Amino acid sequence: MANENEVRTVQQLYDIKDKVALVTGGYGLYGRWLSQAMAEAGAHVIVASRNVERCKQYAEELQQAGGSATGAQLDQGDETSILALRDHIDDAFGRLDIFINNAVGRFPVKNLLETETDYWPDYMQVNATGVLMMCKHLGQYMYEAGSGSIINISSIYGVVGQTFPIYEGTDVTSPADYAFVKGGMINLTRSMATLLAPRVRVNCLAPGGLFNDQDPLFVKRYEEHCPLGRMAGPEDIKGPAVFLASDASQYLTGQIIGVEGGWTAW
Ligand SMILES: NC(=O)c1ccc[n+]([C@@H]2O[C@H](COP(=O)([O-])OP(=O)(O)OC[C@H]3O[C@@H](n4cnc5c(N)ncnc54)[C@H](OP(=O)(O)O)[C@@H]3O)[C@@H](O)[C@H]2O)c1
Repeated sequence: MANENEVRTVQQLYDIKDKVALVTGGYGLYGRWLSQAMAEAGAHVIVASRNVERCKQYAEELQQAGGSATGAQLDQGDETSILALRDHIDDAFGRLDIFINNAVGRFPVKNLLETETDYWPDYMQVNATGVLMMCKHLGQYMYEAGSGSIINISSIYGVVGQTFPIYEGTDVTSPADYAFVKGGMINLTRSMATLLAPRVRVNCLAPGGLFNDQDPLFVKRYEEHCPLGRMAGPEDIKGPAVFLASDASQYLTGQIIGVEGGWTAW
């Protein structure tokens, strides 16, 4: 316990200036706001995914806005690529303070009764095995360094089942394989939190649907079901991400925070 004169201010607790942050899938729909949040809060952001040119392009945009960012190559379904990214981070920065485990491989979207099953091995390689490999190799790197914060990005559909009636008659749906891996990510968070404590904290954000010009009928039904009456916007994820990345959450580990307007509160 710090003595009274040593208690940091709120501004100091939220300070992540000069920390090194990795955001996987860092130019995607949610990823771009997570990357932007880290950059605006003063961290150096590594935007990583398969399309390294788009990662570099988005890093350039963040730099033009006054942040510090670089793009890097990552295929999280490929262990060699994960190890290469880890080694690149070690060579370039010598440390990783914040790891936002956000990338998701998108595959054909049909419900469980209608879907083909042939893509599942590829799906699981990226979204289950890939997530585990990322956590193993980067978690170990951060653990050996002695500190850090890992933020897994799950979903409301890792917490509750899909509200299928809101999709009826629209071109939007959400598949069972997604619920399977997002639910897994939630208990993976708790498992890693206890394993890596007290050195590395591991928490999870479970966001709701981000508005992206979806079918207006779907949006209307979503808004009616959501206690806060709207889909998520870019600002909604930024504060919770900086909170979990920073010492403002230094006594939180293994926690799942819904960023979903009360979707799971019914
Ligand atoms: N969008 C939503 O409404 C919503 C709601 C709740 C939760 N979430 C969660 O938020 C996170 C981001 O979702 P999103 O909707 O923003 O995703 P998105 O727009 O579909 O973007 C996915 C990102 O992941 C990257 N990616 C895909 N496969 C990859 C691989 N094999 N290796 C490395 N990177 C890969 C993609 O880049 P490349 O193609 O360059 O690899 C892309 O940047 C996910 O974890 C998702 O479950 C999203």
